[in-house]
Formats: sequence, structure tokens, C-alpha cells
Amino acid sequence: MKTPIKVTITGAAGHIGYALAFRVASGEMFGPKQPVILRLLEIPQALSSVHGVGMELEDCALPLLYDTVLTDDPAIGFREADYAILIGAKPRSKGMERKDLITENAKIFSAQGRAINDHASGDVRVLVVGNPANTNALIAASNAPDLNPRQFTAMTRLDHNRALGQLANKTNNLVADIKRMTIWGNHSMTQFPDASNCLVNGTPAYDLVSRDWAIDHFIPRIQRRGAEIIEARGLSSAASAADAVVDHVRNWALGTPEGDWVSMSVPTDGSYGIEEGIVFSFPVTCKAGNYEIVQGLEIDDFSRSRLRASEKELREERAIIEDLLH
Ligand code: NAD
Ligand code: LMR
Repeated sequence: MKTPIKVTITGAAGHIGYALAFRVASGEMFGPKQPVILRLLEIPQALSSVHGVGMELEDCALPLLYDTVLTDDPAIGFREADYAILIGAKPRSKGMERKDLITENAKIFSAQGRAINDHASGDVRVLVVGNPANTNALIAASNAPDLNPRQFTAMTRLDHNRALGQLANKTNNLVADIKRMTIWGNHSMTQFPDASNCLVNGTPAYDLVSRDWAIDHFIPRIQRRGAEIIEARGLSSAASAADAVVDHVRNWALGTPEGDWVSMSVPTDGSYGIEEGIVFSFPVTCKAGNYEIVQGLEIDDFSRSRLRASEKELREERAIIEDLLH
């Protein structure tokens, strides 16, 4: 019998958490033969609600779900966690930018970084979803001195998936036919969705769509998609965010397909000239729980200016929460 993987989900009673927990428990994240134990961490005010989620999980009679722990105590929530998915945080509402959440949400991630350091498995892999996700991941990593910062990532997979969807629509192809999409930078308005390396059924994307379309429509659409959803739903994306969490962790744990890559926000290491000490989205390949930034892609002047804009924004965000870093 396989050892169950322990997965902590914070904010499990919230919109994304509710969409995610059942998918992890049914085997979509780690495959149909891998049992899981869920640890659902909430704040005291949401304990009743998360107990409801626990009851529903029980009522699904999911064969891969070996145990569910419901708690508002981070020491219990993160105990021996193999994966920690940090969703619990305030979402923005209409008219706000994600970085407007920074002062309110940042302290959650310093406390949780410490709790992960003290209670999770030494090999824990962390995905930060709560916004502003990149800077929150930096805070969490910096408060976990016994862990390698590479164990902390932030989510730009939703942007990556959005970009695949838009390019597939435009070229009348299936998303499965598109390879090598990249989101560079911050999960924010400065992100750079980059189709210049994409292959659509093996054909370079820019043989099928014009660069003008990319600049005038594709890039701004992806940058603004979160706000577009909020405008339409009155709430921020939830099911698509949960779906991107499943994709991010599945690829990290089980690997990326040969000849393709995915976008993950990871601590910078000097790749592509981006300053160290921030969490930035890159194209990555994954294998057996490790990721590597794809090297050697051509960066022209246009792309360079986009990367620099996102790097600058992340430096500015870091300056705001400097007191939470160690
Ligand atoms: P929500 O308000 O529906 O749920 C948030 C949940 O977190 C609530 O149940 C709340 O009780 C809980 N929570 C708050 N503080 C907590 C803490 N310290 N510990 C544990 N739980 C805590 O919000 P949502 O729609 O689920 O969104 C959650 C976050 O994810 C927001 O910050 C949102 O902006 C962000 N988000 C990020 C992406 C991305 O692509 N990176 C996509 C969508 C949403
Ligand atoms: C998204 O991209 O949908 C999330 O980050 C939510 C938001 O505030 O846009």
C-alpha cells in the first residue's frame, strides 16, 4: 500500500478551497493510485464552515482519502505536510489591484512560513495562491530558515492556462495542441504572457497570429483576466484557480511532458538577468518533484522591457513588506 501524501490546504472553507479539496481527494492531483490525507486549516470564525466541507468529503466516500483533519491551529494544520497550498487570504474586489491586498495579507504568510518551518516535512513543497502571491511566497520562504527557498513557489499557472485558452481560440486549435507558453514576472498587471516560443501543432505561433494581435489583444487580455472575472462574477476566479493549483502541483510532483514546459513563480537565481531575492514567474520543466528554469530563450528588446517592468514592481512590493523578511 502506498504511503498517503499529506496535503495542507489553508482557507479550505473559501471559494477556491471548496473547489480544490474534492479534486485533491479524488486523485486528480497525484493520480488514481495515490492516497492522500487532507489537513484543512482555517481561521476560528470559519471552523463551522470547514467542518461542513469535512462532512461533504466524508459523504463522497472517496477511496483515496485516508483521513481529513480540520483545524484552526497551524501547528496541527501543517504537521508533517508534504505539500502546503496557501490559499487562505483576502481576495480583492472590483477596482482594486492585487497589490492593494499586501498589507492586510502579508502577515498571514510570515506566520505560516514559520509554522511550515517548524511543523511540515523537511521536504515540503509550498504553493502560494493568496494574493499578492509572488510577494507572499517570498515572505513565507524568508520566514522558514530551515527550508530551502526553492521549496516555495507562487501560482502563475492560472495565467498560463488563460493564455493557452486565448491562443487556442484565436488559432482554432485545441489547448492540447499548444506547447511552450510562458508567463514571465509577477501575478499582476505587469505580467508578460509570451507566445513567442509557442508551437501550435508544431508551427510557431507567430506564423499563425501577428505580433500586433499579441501586443494589442492577447497580452492585455491575460493581464486583465482576473479583473474581467471579478467584473462578471462579482467574485474572483475560484474554480479555474483551483484547477490551476491541481495543474501546478501535479506537474511539480509528477513532471512536465517531454518537449513542453509550464509557468511557475519561483525564487530568482539570476536567470535571464532578473535580480535575486524576489519570486518571479519563469518557464520551468519539472521532474520527480524538482523544477528547473528553462534556459537560453531569446529575449528581444520588447520582452526585456516587459521583464524589467515586472521585476521593478516586485522590488517595490518587497520594499513595502521588508520588515517581514529575515
Ligand atoms: P475567500 O474569501 O472565498 O476564501 C478565503 C478563505 O481563507 C476564507 O475561508 C478565510 O476564512 C480563509 N483565511 C483567511 N485567513 C486565513 C488564515 N490566516 N489561515 C487560514 N485560512 C484563512 O477567497 P478565495 O476566493 O478562496 O481567494 C483566496 C485568495 O486567493 C485571495 O487572496 C485571492 O486573491 C487569491 N487568488 C489567487 C489566484 C492566483 O492565480 N494566484 C487566483 C485566484 C485567487
Ligand atoms: C485571478 O487572477 O483571477 C486572481 O488573482 C484573482 C484576482 O484578484 O484577479
